[in-house]
Amino acid sequence: MNDKTKLDRRFFMKTAGAAALFGSALGTVPAMAKGMGQSISMSTTINFDEGYNRVGTNSIKFDLIKMFNPGKTLDVGMGIADMDFKTLPQVTDALKKRLEIENWGYEIPPLDYPGNIVDWNKRRYGADVPKGNILNCVGVLDGVLSILNAFGEAGDNVLLTTPNYSSFFTTIHHANMHEAMSEMKMVNGKYEVDWDDFEAQAAGGIKQYILCNPQNPTGNCWTADELRKMGDICNKNDVLVIADEIHCDFVMEGQTYVPYASIGEEYAQNSITLKSTSKSFNLAAHRTGYMFSHNRAYIDKVLKGGHQRLLLNIMGMIASNEALKHGDAYIDEQNAYLTENARYVEKYCADNIPLIKYKVHQGTYLAWLDVSALSEKLDAKNKAIELTAYNVENNVTATDFFGVTSIKKYGTGDYLKEWFMDNARIDINPGENYGKGGMGYMRMNLATNRKTLTHALGNIEKAINAL
Ligand SMILES: Cc1ncc(COP(=O)(O)O)c(C=O)c1O
Repeated sequence: MNDKTKLDRRFFMKTAGAAALFGSALGTVPAMAKGMGQSISMSTTINFDEGYNRVGTNSIKFDLIKMFNPGKTLDVGMGIADMDFKTLPQVTDALKKRLEIENWGYEIPPLDYPGNIVDWNKRRYGADVPKGNILNCVGVLDGVLSILNAFGEAGDNVLLTTPNYSSFFTTIHHANMHEAMSEMKMVNGKYEVDWDDFEAQAAGGIKQYILCNPQNPTGNCWTADELRKMGDICNKNDVLVIADEIHCDFVMEGQTYVPYASIGEEYAQNSITLKSTSKSFNLAAHRTGYMFSHNRAYIDKVLKGGHQRLLLNIMGMIASNEALKHGDAYIDEQNAYLTENARYVEKYCADNIPLIKYKVHQGTYLAWLDVSALSEKLDAKNKAIELTAYNVENNVTATDFFGVTSIKKYGTGDYLKEWFMDNARIDINPGENYGKGGMGYMRMNLATNRKTLTHALGNIEKAINAL
């Protein structure tokens, strides 16, 4: 840690502590009433408020979406879950230093990497990670796929509480398995597990449950009680818990992430946890991640299933290692910034876009917007049916992310996505992508600077006012 970071970290800790004591918003961040839509300057590691143009960098969020929408104007990409922020300066410095070596022969990963994983989890969450039971993954989904294959077989059903992360469905299909969706219930504005349904499904021959903690896209930071209840049902029915905790470093102010493996030995023993630095420090392009279990037999089973990832791309390993060593202040400041973004969106929608409903979420940087009233106003369901019928009749095709070309069919959410692109020049994701319960919602990525967010919301407001 350099002197500046050390100093800034102390300053941040002091002000954050004072803020907690006085029950105010974080001390370094001007109150939202003052800061609405304006630039704020609070960062000590990087300037989260700085404009950052990702167009032309091969980004999926901007460049690929543009490629998929020829002839359309995209002002703001708010789809795929990455951030428009620079990563930690220490990461960039270490990568530059490695580049200077100009030799790319076989190389061992940084020797302190497993120790830094352990320290990060202990320091930040009080969680014990067994150092000898950590396996590398080429991203978290690579690890999920290895576990599914090692613990199950083709044709299995895999349990998910929905709405849940869209690529879990793809990964389950890659294992030639099927998703078993337990749709959550909305209770007092918060998603809750439908326990009767969850238990009935777990007891019905399911071998694996993918827990998303905090949950993408609903933002649920699961409590210890909720996690134990899930765990008790899974343990009773011999269901393995695959705990995807990739979003754990993103908790909005006042919320808590509870690591699944820390809630009790019997839960730790029947679970494998997956994490990475990719979301937390915007390192997704480096394709690193890791899994661990307190149960050595589980790790051996994954290894025997063919998961051999001792050597990953060295740049990714260096980047992850540096982030874990130096990233505390970055994460704290980022969470403060993202909390203010979420508050800003909540207030903006309430004041200016009442057709879209949103309350500050708990974890992740993803806003799960209730667009049901807008959908009705646009008659999106019928418009989608009409467009699909037209495309079938006229053989209108489209090519998807995986390069598969087929007749372009519209769900209600697809129609809404296109409406937002055509009328507000933003890209956001349809709720249907996230399974049962997603209809009427859209997922908006808030990990951008305030100016860009303001621009996007302004575009939406204008588009809706023009209806
Ligand atoms: C819950 C969850 N798991 C996994 C991933 C993907 O992780 P990776 O790119 O490391 O495979 C994402 C990305 O959005 C996610 O939200």
